[in-house]
Amino acid sequence: MAEVAAPGAVKKKLGILISGRGSNMMALVTASRSPDSAYEVALVASDKPDAPGLAWAKENGVPTFAHSPKNIPKPEYEAKIDSALRAAGVEAIALAGYMRLLSDEFVAKWRGKIVNIHPSLLPLYKGLDTHRRALVAGDSHAGCSVHIVTEELDGGEVLGQAEVRIDARDTPESLAERVLAEEHRLYPQVLQEWLCR
Ligand code: GRF
Repeated sequence: MAEVAAPGAVKKKLGILISGRGSNMMALVTASRSPDSAYEVALVASDKPDAPGLAWAKENGVPTFAHSPKNIPKPEYEAKIDSALRAAGVEAIALAGYMRLLSDEFVAKWRGKIVNIHPSLLPLYKGLDTHRRALVAGDSHAGCSVHIVTEELDGGEVLGQAEVRIDARDTPESLAERVLAEEHRLYPQVLQEWLCR
């Protein structure tokens, strides 16, 4: 059963980090606008000032922040992201297609407060190219996982998963499309449960 925030409960302020099209961010923002949502999106931040998802967030009234890490040391770049998140009052962070590895220092500062969505049934296929790897392995199912972010790449506690059956005619692209539809359903649901627990 879906968790429902207590009536009148103060909503948690969520920050979302993206690098690209931001379809999972859109699903999270859309779900946050339900009266029962346990969270509101206080900031969408990106390492890519021209990320298409940022434009969508702006058009939809969500505060945004962008800073390119090019030509500056990583700690300086992450300090800017961290300051923007804290200035917006962010209490938890959702990574949604954020294509940059967070440093151990950043993860430590936000320990237990960052979640990510990954397009595989973890612990299988950490890292990139997950759909092709599932097809090459001859798996019967693929899927997606929402997990806590730790210093280990795609290695933190798994909070929820959704499975998709692999069809003999699947290509990495066709599989990615079906898994993505599940991501959009899974991420808001798991985030809601996690923030209510
Ligand atoms: C998704 O497949 C997500 O699982 C992975 O990166 C992709 C991001 O897509 N981490 P989008 O930007 O949310 O559309």
